[in-house]
Amino acid sequence: MPYPATRLRRNRQHDWLRRAVAETTLSPADLIWPVFVHDHEASLPVASMPGVERLSIDGVVKAADEARQLGIPALALFPVVEPHHKSDDARHAYDPANLVCRTIRAVRDRLGDAVGLICDVALDPYTSHGHDGLLQDGRIVNDETVAVLCRQAVTLAEAGCHVVAPSDMMDGRVGMIRGALDAAGWQDVGILSYAAKYASAFYGPFRDALGSAASLGMADKKTYQMDPANADEAIREVALDIAEGADMVMVKPAMTSLDIIHRVRREFGVPTFAYQVSGEYAMIQAAAANGWIDGRKAALESLLVIKRAGADAILTYFAPEMARRLAPGG
Ligand code: PBG
Repeated sequence: MPYPATRLRRNRQHDWLRRAVAETTLSPADLIWPVFVHDHEASLPVASMPGVERLSIDGVVKAADEARQLGIPALALFPVVEPHHKSDDARHAYDPANLVCRTIRAVRDRLGDAVGLICDVALDPYTSHGHDGLLQDGRIVNDETVAVLCRQAVTLAEAGCHVVAPSDMMDGRVGMIRGALDAAGWQDVGILSYAAKYASAFYGPFRDALGSAASLGMADKKTYQMDPANADEAIREVALDIAEGADMVMVKPAMTSLDIIHRVRREFGVPTFAYQVSGEYAMIQAAAANGWIDGRKAALESLLVIKRAGADAILTYFAPEMARRLAPGG
């Protein structure tokens, strides 16, 4: 037998052949577009996220229409809340006239169900201290927070949000939110739980975008978000959220949790989303801006490997650019 019998390079010779044998492919349907909305007419760039802007409500409606044209299934909405609407009890989170609710109604009016709307359930945009939960005597109190999250989730459902996405990491919130939605007649509103969310340094630019970095100051979220040292614990988090009624689960950040994405997809076989967070986006954009890496190639590669790990869909700030590129002739 000639040496070597198997030549794996044979299948790598041509572009057409590489495409034909590719085990993983990326399509616009895999991408969810996170969008920041603010209560101003002009859009405002996020300094630490080149290419990302805080949009007006109208801007979000246009973005949703663009998503529809590009084949991006859904937007994830994040409101920039004005300081005078922030309080210790986060009551503006369940005000039906708040910015995110007005945005949801505007998009639904124009686009109906053509593009999905996924909305964060967590209190950080609304708390004066920037935490995802209520702070009492220096501690984030779980059950009291969950009660507010339930009101927030029902308010979002009433405004027309398709899927609520609890990102707060309180214990037991998925089951309580499911119960609150059902009791209010919103059985068809889904839950995408941020099931395994790590306390991560990679959320920095997001907190800049929302202005919650200043509120949070030197504090961290380690008493509720997970320790990056832990993997089995992530599996327990996911198991609990599925048992409590999560329709989809999320792992976050993505590139530092490829092992977790893989295990979750393998062990549970449920729709598994990954969030390529703001810091991951910023790293690629910063290196690209310096000419140190090819930003477009790095973005594509990063998304492909997140999918290879097992993600069914990826929340990514590259969504519109990547979807344009993935379109025929793009
Ligand atoms: C809020 C929330 C955060 C992100 C999504 N929802 C920040 C945080 O937990 O501090 C991060 C997203 C990103 O960095 O792109 N609960």
